[in-house]
Amino acid sequence: MRYAVFGNPIAHSKSPQIHQAFAAQFGLADFSYEKLLAPLDGFAGCVREFFAAGGGGANVTVPFKEEAFRLAHKLSDRARVAQAVNTLKCLDDGQILGDNTDGAGLVADILRHTRINGRRVLLLGAGGAARGVLEPLKRQHPAQIVIANRTQAKAEELSRIVQAVKCESGDSRSFTVGHYGFDSIQGEFDLVINATSASLAGEGLPIGPSVFAAGALAYDMMYGKDETPFLRQAAAAGVTQRVDGLGMLVGQAAEAFALWTGHHPDVAPVLAQLRASL
Ligand code: ATR
Repeated sequence: MRYAVFGNPIAHSKSPQIHQAFAAQFGLADFSYEKLLAPLDGFAGCVREFFAAGGGGANVTVPFKEEAFRLAHKLSDRARVAQAVNTLKCLDDGQILGDNTDGAGLVADILRHTRINGRRVLLLGAGGAARGVLEPLKRQHPAQIVIANRTQAKAEELSRIVQAVKCESGDSRSFTVGHYGFDSIQGEFDLVINATSASLAGEGLPIGPSVFAAGALAYDMMYGKDETPFLRQAAAAGVTQRVDGLGMLVGQAAEAFALWTGHHPDVAPVLAQLRASL
């Protein structure tokens, strides 16, 4: 079966390496996965062509996740909250299902290091990356999700969305949501997640060391060969548990692979292989 990742640019994508490694774990000889560069104004046409030619599923990356959300015939709950789709699947009736596995990838990676249930979570950033992880994060029943952003109004909007997200089983555990600008964050947090793109610009964030509770975990959705500016900032604040987003990348791929094939791959060896190749 044929799978692919669509993006623009796409040359840098590690997805083929990750998915081929997953397929090898299950001996799926007929699994193929390629990178497809879609023109900026031609994403929908490329996707339709791919599925019409028998494609089984696709990943979608920058800058097409919102367009993929609009293109899908059916949506998972988490894609609906994210308003973005990173995984497409061709259903038996020919319709295209849109899912978003980014948040599940993040949650799975965090859970490899610590629990989320009952913890105080500070989410830094209120753009697409932050929005994309809200539903799966809330499903873990943290005690608190506080969102802080450079533009405070966007943090406020996102905190309203978190409150509105319905979680299964009519959960009534206490849960608080807050929102701040970076300069006014109150309280301390067990999990501090950087979902801003500041690391891309080589910048840390204007937050004080007091946001990190004793024993906190700092998570940066970005990754690189060297520690990201945000994780260096956390280190300077005395945080010893620091995790970058490479595991989230492999985790979101694992969720997509499971959706397509029904097989749940072992993430750890693929992550180690990828880390060694950075
Ligand atoms: P993405 O899909 O990566 O989330 P986005 O939707 O453009 O991209 O959102 C980028 C996020 O990073 C926003 O929260 C943005 O803050 P603003 O809402 O104030 O623009 C944040 N961001 C980008 N560069 C930043 C910087 N240098 N310092 C702090 N926050 C930054």
